Amino acid sequence: KMNRFLDSLIRLMTIDEKIGQMNQYSSDFAATGPITQDGDKQTQVRKGMIGSYLNVTGAERTRSLQEIAMQSRLKIPLLFGQDVIHGYRTIFPLPLAEAASWDMEAIERSARIAAIEASAAGIHWTFAPMVDIGRDPRWGRVMEGAGEDPFLGSLIAKARVNGFQGKGFGNTDAVLACVKHFAAYGAAVGGRDYNSVDMSPRMLYETYLPPFKAAADAGAATFMNSFNDLNGIPATGNRFLQRDILKGQWKFKGFVVSDWGSIGEMVNHGYAKDNYEAAMLAANAGSDMDMESRAYIQHLARLVKEGKVKMTVIDEAVRRILRKKYELGLFADPYKFSNIQREKQQWNNPQHLVAAKEIAAKSIVLLKNDPLPGGAGVGTLPLSKQTKKIALVGPLVKAIKEHLGFWSYDWDDDSARVPSLYQSVQNKIGSNTQLLYAKGCELTDSSRAGFAAAIDAASQSDVVVIYVGETRNMSGEAKSRSNIHLPGVQEELIKAVAATGKPVVVLVAAGRPLVFNWTAEHVSAILYTWWLGTKGADAIADVLFGDYNPSGKLPMTFPRSEGQIPIYYNHYNTGRPAKTETDFNYVSAYTDLRNSPQYPFGFGLSYTRFQYSDIQLNKSSLKPGETLTATVTVTNNGNYDGEEVVQLYIRDITGSVVRPVKELKGFKKIKVGRGESKQVQFTLTANDLRFYNDKLQYIYEPGDFTLFIGGNSRDVKEAKFELKK
Ligand code: IFM
Repeated sequence: KMNRFLDSLIRLMTIDEKIGQMNQYSSDFAATGPITQDGDKQTQVRKGMIGSYLNVTGAERTRSLQEIAMQSRLKIPLLFGQDVIHGYRTIFPLPLAEAASWDMEAIERSARIAAIEASAAGIHWTFAPMVDIGRDPRWGRVMEGAGEDPFLGSLIAKARVNGFQGKGFGNTDAVLACVKHFAAYGAAVGGRDYNSVDMSPRMLYETYLPPFKAAADAGAATFMNSFNDLNGIPATGNRFLQRDILKGQWKFKGFVVSDWGSIGEMVNHGYAKDNYEAAMLAANAGSDMDMESRAYIQHLARLVKEGKVKMTVIDEAVRRILRKKYELGLFADPYKFSNIQREKQQWNNPQHLVAAKEIAAKSIVLLKNDPLPGGAGVGTLPLSKQTKKIALVGPLVKAIKEHLGFWSYDWDDDSARVPSLYQSVQNKIGSNTQLLYAKGCELTDSSRAGFAAAIDAASQSDVVVIYVGETRNMSGEAKSRSNIHLPGVQEELIKAVAATGKPVVVLVAAGRPLVFNWTAEHVSAILYTWWLGTKGADAIADVLFGDYNPSGKLPMTFPRSEGQIPIYYNHYNTGRPAKTETDFNYVSAYTDLRNSPQYPFGFGLSYTRFQYSDIQLNKSSLKPGETLTATVTVTNNGNYDGEEVVQLYIRDITGSVVRPVKELKGFKKIKVGRGESKQVQFTLTANDLRFYNDKLQYIYEPGDFTLFIGGNSRDVKEAKFELKK
């Protein structure tokens, strides 16, 4: 039925109306680029010259624009898209933070709620998930992805697509997902946004493409291409990526939208002479919709007339776009998403706030928890609710908006919904505890004028909690930084406060791994809190006082210095690997830095202690078709119930191409009560041992393997096995 409808509609359309469907403009606000100014957009909608808008929101506003589209000749509804990246009204943790939960159910739930709220505001389509692999914390957009690992990234990509798209289109609470940025955007040289990418096809297939493939397999409706060039061809004009891989090998049936202005930017790349040529290159390469370049609307008709773009290319793009409008049910009811009553209901849905706090708590990573002096081995955290005096110090203690992080539009900056850490801690403690507060310094400037008050507050207290980090706008699009140390004089503030001799707990809020070596070595406890969204401060307070036992694990390696970047756990061994932390003797190392990251991938502590048994394998060798079972027992021998992410890695010792020193192949998040033990079992087959050889064949090779299981990528038990022919 749908195909018949689309056939007859496309037959009725003029070429201008077809090209109109391939044209997208930003409407009410500019997020990350200049808005199209020329022409009266309402008249263009009436003429069928605009197929989609981004940055329009609200049931009323979307309805009024849709009414104008209904005055067009063929009454083709508009598609409203927006960057709903980590929540719409209720803001959830940054995607990178959520990835630290290693909890697929939680990640899917967060995307589900974002879709429920956004769709109630008339939005049909979110430009998420971003599934770019991020190995370079200088790149500001690592905040929007799932970190450095393709295995974890693929599972998260699938969870997020499922969350956004819900039970399927046709339901008013499902939005189209848009998987971005296709492809390899995360590997921009030097971590500088929009920069070039030069990468071997093997690296592309093995590391950067798997999360895209997983999202496509999960049924993602749309893809966005990318600003970068890949091996000399801009992704937007890249036929190999869009036609050969995505629409060819992967049989993707949705449509591809360009990134903001990326068609026109091919002129700057030096790949197209002008917008006319850029439109030709992009359309022929498989970019179906032009976001804000105006290249399609201005040039495609002429290109078709001159035979430079075939009519079949236009028809195919238009069909892909119209199919999604049809699947959403917009032809049957163009206003079905613009429902003011539903919008009102979802705007303050209390269940969403409960979920926001739960997911925020799951995203927090405990990096350090030294015992208190005289504390009989018990960690500094959690704090006792009976503590007499607590000093809350730092520029973020009373911050509200900062919690929302980049890619949130301040629709949730109401202090009744978004508490500051100060408020959340105040709500947590009893009347016997006194809270002292000192800001100490600003996030970014260099004044130390507030240090004295901070030292004073600390000196009077039993424990100090210092809340520092980036501003919310320091990580995100176009927010690459060459220096990823704690900004301003915040680490100086920590030193000054620590000099009082009081136990110091540091909370670090950021959208990327930061460098804070002095802090890592000298303070008593550290929680990495990212930007956690609407209920972030409540979640932090829960963790500080032991109402939630942290279980987050880092989805990215934390460097000791910018000079170590890119740094990631699944690197090759090289011919001269360092043997120890300080081995600099003609080995692959930096002579001025220890041979390890500050915190490894997968790392994160708990208030309790987990002990791993040796690994039991059901066999020492494996043949294709057989299953290898690896079992460990995890014992909680600390003082709290807790959750642990048990991680399985492998290393292929010798291959026809070199293999990483470790590759994540499985994980299980388990709950283990205090004093309890749990058996955890993983299974592997030869298929899990595949990789791309130098001919880009996805194969396994017989030989020796090491299997590792542990609570992070560094501290692991190991066992050997062989893959036989
Ligand atoms: O979705 C984004 C993309 O990730 C970066 N450029 C702008 C788009 C729309 O806002």
